[in-house]
Amino acid sequence: MNNSFLTIAMPKGRIFEEAAELLRGAGFRLPPEFDDSRKLILDVEEENLRFILAKPMDVVTYVEHGVADIGIAGKDVMLEEERDVYELLDLKISACYLAVAGLPGTKISDIAPKIASKYPNVASSYFREQGEQVEIIKLNGSIELAPLIGLAERIVDIVSTGQTLKENGLVEYAKIADVTSRLVANPVSYRLKEARITEIVDRLAEIIG
Ligand code: PRP
Repeated sequence: MNNSFLTIAMPKGRIFEEAAELLRGAGFRLPPEFDDSRKLILDVEEENLRFILAKPMDVVTYVEHGVADIGIAGKDVMLEEERDVYELLDLKISACYLAVAGLPGTKISDIAPKIASKYPNVASSYFREQGEQVEIIKLNGSIELAPLIGLAERIVDIVSTGQTLKENGLVEYAKIADVTSRLVANPVSYRLKEARITEIVDRLAEIIG
């Protein structure tokens, strides 16, 4: 069995639990402290694996720079940032979608309506395709606040259960893209450690079905 040492970038937060469950399901022996430790680097010596815990938006950065060989990243991040990484497998976890939302019953202005988003590139290419000139306002979170307080007329954001929109009295105007987590690889790592990475892809693909 090919057992070259591998570093995997994992997303901290919401996606982490599902990602860890998937890895365990595929037979990886992850230590129990994995779930509630504040450590950012966790070695699993018997598997010859090192896990690094990064912000979901940053996973592809670690992988692109080659300090992680592979990683688990959301399709939303891949759409937002064209990174030089290989997308190897749709892990089919953390399913959600990118959508345009706003206050109900409102039309957007004819001239440069403001659109708030954590995904400025996704938002600007969506509105460009619609033939609408917009002004994008980049926010880092709590995007739903923007139309409520008059910062923007629309938002482009992730919808998962729809609860955040509902509780803030917002409605969806358009769906932009489905999002799930993907297994991504650094192109050089993939070439040098192809057998090991392929074995991991196969193990995961088998349980995803
Ligand atoms: C995400 C997203 C929405 C919310 C959607 O935010 O940006 O705000 O989850 O989930 P829902 O449809 O199940 O309500 P997150 O909680 O990750 O935090 P953020 O606002 O800081 O981005």
